[in-house]
Amino acid sequence: MRRPVIAGNWKMHKTIAETSAFVARLRERVANVNHCDIVVAPPFTALRAAAEAARGSNLRIAGQDVHWEPNGAHTGDISAGMLMEAGATAVIIGHSERRRDHGETDEMINRKLKAALAAGLTPIVCVGETLEERESGRTQEVLSRQFEGGFAGLTPWEFSRIMMAYEPVWAIGTGRTATPEMAAESHTYLRELSRRRFGEAEAERLRILYGGSVKPDNIAGLMREVQIDGALVGGASLDLESFVAIVQYPPLVAAGRVG
Ligand code: 13P
Repeated sequence: MRRPVIAGNWKMHKTIAETSAFVARLRERVANVNHCDIVVAPPFTALRAAAEAARGSNLRIAGQDVHWEPNGAHTGDISAGMLMEAGATAVIIGHSERRRDHGETDEMINRKLKAALAAGLTPIVCVGETLEERESGRTQEVLSRQFEGGFAGLTPWEFSRIMMAYEPVWAIGTGRTATPEMAAESHTYLRELSRRRFGEAEAERLRILYGGSVKPDNIAGLMREVQIDGALVGGASLDLESFVAIVQYPPLVAAGRVG
């Protein structure tokens, strides 16, 4: 059985001081949680503070992006080695906000993914369609293109080290969550693409998180789906109580996941 993951993507929120205080409280609140992995992705400036506050706890710290080069003339970018040094052990790659704001292509995402893997970071690779793409019936076509481009040239061993996040763009920050059935359908499709490219064992092992308006009141419904292995939470991860409530989605749900 795949171990669930609840990850908070803070995006461009929280100062160093706010991060230290939040993580110090979070680690206490989730100290007894052992039904899932917990990841927090603060902005670059607060990574080190987060890692220090999380040291020795069950929290993992992730970056929100990475450059593919180890160093060089890339103003504003951060390398995988720098993320590791700051205390991150994972990194979000290809978030739709980066695709939109920074023109990231599947090819760039593929290069970032390989750099992260080479450095020993766990990549959390985001895919997902826009509203227009969904409404014109092109969801699978888009996921397939992002999958083929993003994961080009990976060995099954490399693929076994990644996590995927299905984040339909129309559900991000809109309060409009995909229904558990809609999310599960896309997760099933992504797992099928994984099976075709990397084989049955790797596809079954792959953890696919859902992201897009995940809240305390919809996490249980999502996690009841056997194809949904966790959540990548934006807005609701900024508030301690709501993030803790999401992490503590009724663990009984895990036992009764539907196939
Ligand atoms: P929201 O949970 O705010 O919709 O954001 C989702 C997301 O983009 C996580 O990466």
